[in-house]
Amino acid sequence: MSTAFHVNGQAVRAQAEPDTPLLWVIRDELGMTGTKFGCGAAQCGACTVHIDGKPARACQTLLSTVEGAKVSTIEGLSKDNNHPLQVAWIKHDVPQCGYCQSGQLMSAAALLSVNKNPSDGEIDVAMSGNICRCGTYPRIKAAIKDAASMMRNA
Ligand code: FES
Ligand code: FES
Repeated sequence: MSTAFHVNGQAVRAQAEPDTPLLWVIRDELGMTGTKFGCGAAQCGACTVHIDGKPARACQTLLSTVEGAKVSTIEGLSKDNNHPLQVAWIKHDVPQCGYCQSGQLMSAAALLSVNKNPSDGEIDVAMSGNICRCGTYPRIKAAIKDAASMMRNA
């Protein structure tokens, strides 16, 4: 039995058992290692991907539930690192160890896809499930605001 869905615009057919977490399928079967394993319990956000445009924790998403869905990972955020968030992340020198950052970017991208002028409070709510042990939160917030501004002025 296999599970058919899309990842970053490409049709894929995963062979893993239906109760396998999507994170394992993305990393081990599809070979895309940008999405990270942190806690495995939907507590840290390191594994954040988009499923049909909404942020989701891949560690707690069973493969069977994405049949027919459109999944996006950090590898699909842009073709050449030119998403406004990636530009802003580099400009603000956001990452420290980097481990949480693909999840942070995917949560931020989901926010800006529906709100191009988020308030501090809206950013806090959207990003509340993404933990950064290095404490890069102030730079993350500044970069999100900068990216939002770029998107409004594009
Ligand atoms: S690894 Fe999925 S939320 Fe932590
Ligand atoms: S940059 Fe190290 S955990 Fe966030």
